[in-house]
Amino acid sequence: MEKLTSTSSVVQMVDIWSIFALAIIVLLVTKYLMNGTLSPPGPWGLPFIGHLLFLGKDHAKQFQRYREEFGDVYQLRLGVWPTVIISGYHTVKKVLSEQSDSFAARPAFNSFKFINKMRGLTFSYFDQRYLLHRKIASTVLKEYSSRMEEIMQEEANRIVSDFLNENGRPFNPNKVVTEATGSIIYQFCYGKGENIREDKDFLELLENHKNFKEMAKAANPTDVLPWTQIFFQEKVRKFHKFIRKAQHSRAEKFQDILETFDPKHMRHAVDGIISTSIRYGLEDEPNEVGLTKQDVFTLTGDFFGGGFDNTSTTLCWLLLYMAEYPVVQATIQREIDNVIGQKGIILLEDREKMPFTEATIFETMRLSGVVPLGLPHCATEDVLVNRYIIKKGTLVFFNHYSVGHDKEWGDPFEFRPERFLDSGGKLMREKTESVLAFSIGRRRCPGETLARNELFLLFATVLCKCDISKPEHENYDFEGNFSLTYSPKPYNIYVCSKEN
Ligand code: HEM
Repeated sequence: MEKLTSTSSVVQMVDIWSIFALAIIVLLVTKYLMNGTLSPPGPWGLPFIGHLLFLGKDHAKQFQRYREEFGDVYQLRLGVWPTVIISGYHTVKKVLSEQSDSFAARPAFNSFKFINKMRGLTFSYFDQRYLLHRKIASTVLKEYSSRMEEIMQEEANRIVSDFLNENGRPFNPNKVVTEATGSIIYQFCYGKGENIREDKDFLELLENHKNFKEMAKAANPTDVLPWTQIFFQEKVRKFHKFIRKAQHSRAEKFQDILETFDPKHMRHAVDGIISTSIRYGLEDEPNEVGLTKQDVFTLTGDFFGGGFDNTSTTLCWLLLYMAEYPVVQATIQREIDNVIGQKGIILLEDREKMPFTEATIFETMRLSGVVPLGLPHCATEDVLVNRYIIKKGTLVFFNHYSVGHDKEWGDPFEFRPERFLDSGGKLMREKTESVLAFSIGRRRCPGETLARNELFLLFATVLCKCDISKPEHENYDFEGNFSLTYSPKPYNIYVCSKEN
C-alpha cells in the first residue's frame, strides 16, 4: 500500500514536471511564432551573481568559449545586469554599422556615474547632449592631431635615446614607452612643454591609470554587484580620490588657460575646447540639448583616459613581436631605408610608402586584441539582432577579441603581417578595415587618427635607429594580461644602435 502511494506521488511529480515543461515549450513556440523573435540563448548562471564566478581571469577568452556553444549573440547575467555578448567580425560589424544608435549608450555603473555624473563624453548616456559633445571633441581632435608631428618626433627620439642608454642591458620597455605616449597626449592638451616628466600631475596620472583601468574593465564587481563595494573599499576609495584629484587639477589648469586665452593665438587642444564652446554659445547653464561649458571642459579627462595607455600597450606589443620575429623586423627596416634614404627622419607623409610597416601595426592590433571587449555599451531600445530580442537597458559587450581571432582570418593565431598585402605589396583596405581595433559606429574611437599617426611615427623611428632582439633564455608569453586592455606580461628586450 505504502509502495503504491509513493509510486503514485512519483507519477504525480512527473506529471507536474511534464505540464511545466510543456507550458514553457508552448510559451516559447507561441512567442516565436507570433513575432519570430526569441531571447538569446546562453549558459546557466547562479542566482544573484549570475555568471561572474565563471568568467575566470580572462573574460574575453571565456566569452569566446561561450560563443562556440551559443553562437554570435548570447546572453548571460553579470551581477544585477542582464548582459548580451555580441561576437564575430560579421555580426559585430553589421550591428555596429547598421544598428549603432540602438547600442550607443553606456551603462549607468557606479564608477561611470562618479566620473562627471555621466555628463562627460566617454561615460555618458546617448542623447542629443552626447551628440553635440562628441561633435566638439571630434572637431578639437581633428584640428590639433594634425599639429602633433614635431612633438611625436621628439618623443620618438626620446624613446630611442632612452633605449640606447640601457647600454646593451636587457630591459622592459614599458615605462619609457608609456611616458612617451603620456607626454604626447599631455602636450596635445596643454601645449609643448620641456619638463613633462617632472610634472607632478603628469606623473600622478600615469601612476593612477592602472587603478582606473581595473575599475573600467568589463564586469568590475563593484559596478555589476554594487554591494561588493564593502569588500573592495580600498580600491574604490583610491579610484574616487584619483578622479577627484584629476578633476581638481584640470579645473586649476583650465582657470590658468582661460586667463591667457587669445582666440588669435591658439596654442593647444584646451584652447580649442574653449574656443569651440564659445562658438556653440555654451554657458554654465545647460543649452537647448542640455550641454554646459563645464561638461565640455571635462574633455581633457576623456583624452587622457583613452589617449595614452591603448597606444603604449600597442607599442609594447609591437616591440615584443619584433624581438620574436627578426625577419619581419628586417623587412620593415629595409622598407624604411628604401623610403627615407639619407634623410634620417621619418615623416607622417612617408606612411603611404611603407605598406609593410603599416601591415605589421594592423597585424599586431589584430593578434594582441588591445582593447578586447571595447567599452561597455547599453541598449537604448528593444532591438532585434539575428532574430534575438535584446531588451532596452541590457548591458552589451562587443567582443573585439573574437573579431581579430575569427576563423575567417584563416590562421588567426599566426603573426603574419603579409595577410594585409596584395600580390603587389599594397595594403588591402578591406582587410585592414576588418580589424576593428578602434571599434565602429557612434562610439567608435574619436582618437583613431592621432593614435595611428603616433603608432606609425614612434614605431618606425625606433626601427629606423635601433635593432631589437630577444635576450637569451627569455621566453615570451603572448597571452597578455586581461583588464580594460590586453597588455603583454612583463618582458625584456635587448636594443642596440642600428649603425653598429
Ligand atoms: C591604439 C590606440 C587606441 C585604441 C586601440 C583605441 C580603442 C578604442 C575603443 C575600442 C574604444 C571604445 C569604442 C566603443 O565603445 O565601441 C575607444 C573609445 C574612445 N577612445 Fe580610443 N583608442 C585608442 C587611442 C585613443 C586616443 C589616442 C584617444 C584620444 C585622444 C582616444 C580617445 C577615445 C575616447 C574619448 C573614447 C570614447 C568615445 C565615446 O564614448 O564616444 N583613443 N577607443
